[in-house]
Amino acid sequence: MADGVGSVSVTSDERWLAANWPFVRARLPAAPARVAEIGCGPLGGFVPMMEAVGYQATGIDPEAPLGPSYRQVLFEDCAVPSPLDAIVACTSLHHTGDLGAVLDLAVRALAPGGQVVIVEWARERFDEPTARWCFARLSGPDVDQGWLHRRRAQWQESGQPWAVFLRSWAHAEGLHSGQDIIRELDARFDRQALAFGPYFFADLAGTSDADEQAAIDSGLIQPNRIQYAGRRNGRQPAASA
Ligand SMILES: C[S@@+](CC[C@H](N)C(=O)[O-])C[C@H]1O[C@@H](n2cnc3c(N)ncnc32)[C@H](O)[C@@H]1O
Repeated sequence: MADGVGSVSVTSDERWLAANWPFVRARLPAAPARVAEIGCGPLGGFVPMMEAVGYQATGIDPEAPLGPSYRQVLFEDCAVPSPLDAIVACTSLHHTGDLGAVLDLAVRALAPGGQVVIVEWARERFDEPTARWCFARLSGPDVDQGWLHRRRAQWQESGQPWAVFLRSWAHAEGLHSGQDIIRELDARFDRQALAFGPYFFADLAGTSDADEQAAIDSGLIQPNRIQYAGRRNGRQPAASA
């Protein structure tokens, strides 16, 4: 999806990253510091923003852009440039195969006291009122169709109740729930912050994060975004078999 802002076209991914950058930046250690981003995506995630303010940043993702700041591999398969001062992951952990193994590797890659800064999706909060609120705000057919358009179409075709459809879709995709992600993070890091907020606005036409927050505050929809920050404690994960 692309929203016209004046003469500049801003994609939904760019809106999403810009909206989350203040949280990420506020939770990073002071620059200069070594930071890896797990699952930076094809735009490079926060790597360009981190580099612009003095971080030594590496984006790790099979879909990462080409260039010296990126590794086009899974985090599990990467020779991570450690010890790191921080690890960032934005909506990538719910896609990982073995979440616990990825987080164990993250712990090992961090220096003692290193930070994790996580943005995630609490998909278990994507209830029917929230889905209907989102679907009513999707752009028309003249604009690129995104993941929410596809969910709406598949749900309509399925004829299933929303909760049944969502559960079977998430299971088929192998998506971790927000509860599982928080539990696995808490098992490895000393939690410093946990907040829930707007998640869908960047994919919705004419809808800002403030609009979505207002709908959350009035009880119309559920907050689906997780913002988590934690610090590596003294515990080391057991060596994998
Ligand atoms: C939903 S996209 C998020 C992209 C970007 N972080 C953002 O917020 O716009 C999820 C990304 O995570 C990546 N990913 C999933 N599992 C990964 C893993 N184990 N290691 C590295 N990247 C992974 C995918 O390739 C994909 O680009």
